[in-house]
Amino acid sequence: MSTINTQTLPLLEVQDVSKYFGSVIALKDISMKVYAGEVMCLLGDNGAGKSTLIKILSGVHRPSEGQYLFEGKEVHFTSPRDALNVGIATVFQDLAMIPLMGISRNFFLGSEPTKGWGPFRRFDVQHANHVTREELSRMGIQVRDTGQPVGTLSGGERQSVAIARAVYFGAKVLILDEPTAALGVKEAGIVLRYIAQARSRGLGVIFITHNPHHAYPIGDHFTLLNRGRSLGTFAKSEISREELTGMMAGGEALEELSHELAEFARTDEKAAATLAEVAREFGAEAEGLHVEQLPAKFTGSEQQYADQLPPTDGEGKR
Ligand SMILES: Nc1ncnc2c1ncn2[C@@H]1O[C@H](COP(=O)(O)OP(=O)(O)OP(=O)(O)O)[C@@H](O)[C@H]1O
Ligand SMILES: [Mg+2]
Repeated sequence: MSTINTQTLPLLEVQDVSKYFGSVIALKDISMKVYAGEVMCLLGDNGAGKSTLIKILSGVHRPSEGQYLFEGKEVHFTSPRDALNVGIATVFQDLAMIPLMGISRNFFLGSEPTKGWGPFRRFDVQHANHVTREELSRMGIQVRDTGQPVGTLSGGERQSVAIARAVYFGAKVLILDEPTAALGVKEAGIVLRYIAQARSRGLGVIFITHNPHHAYPIGDHFTLLNRGRSLGTFAKSEISREELTGMMAGGEALEELSHELAEFARTDEKAAATLAEVAREFGAEAEGLHVEQLPAKFTGSEQQYADQLPPTDGEGKR
């Protein structure tokens, strides 16, 4: 294979991967790949198998069946550290950051730069602060104080620090498990921007989400999972946002839902018609109660009763 080049060789690829937990089929025959400088979105509803797949990719689980290739070679990771060592960084939802520690301490968590040696070896605060500030600003994030506790950052900023950290430590593939799930519209926008930054710096990004509105603007390819099976992989040019949303909900489920909604509209129509009928009747009745509208015999008898009443004063009081 002398024609292999970086354009045709994916950074990371799985072929017909399955994962069983006892009798539970969490994944069945999944194939997907990600190239350098692209964003691959992994979409699926709750329980679709997204987290299981990324746990395989990040070395937490081993696949029950199928092949896992990194830069064209088969790999057998036994721990997340193995995956990290070849350059596959995963940002999990809970981020593994320490809220009370500053941004730069968190940035270097587990890989602290030190100065001095022997008993004088200590965390090199200046270096850490400098690198953190530099790296964040390369991602377009300006921090006032690198000592600011991470816990005081917004969710979007925390995700951004985690992304910057992965980029700095030489990740080739960045896996993000639902980074925008708990975020508001603006915050999600910030994270999407950093995903785009990571892509433009040549990383292959795997972005897991169940929100097609977050996936569509940023994704180059979309792989859809449904109950552990793949519904296919689509390039952005092959699928519209509406089609993506439709497939996410699952064709059948969506059809069922549309039937339900139609039925609801029908009963609603019925309800509306009944209501109109009642209103009409009520209206007629109300009108009927109006004295001027009463037939003559009633007005006559009313007059008769009125005649038996004591005379009124000028203002109608008796
Ligand atoms: N360790 C496990 N043991 C048994 N079953 C598991 C295990 N992990 C996952 N599963 C099952 O595999 C299926 C897929 O789960 P997974 O967590 O991958 O879904 P998901 O797409 O990430 O969903 P969500 O959007 O809710 O995070 C589920 O039915 C789940 O119950
Ligand atoms: Mg999950």
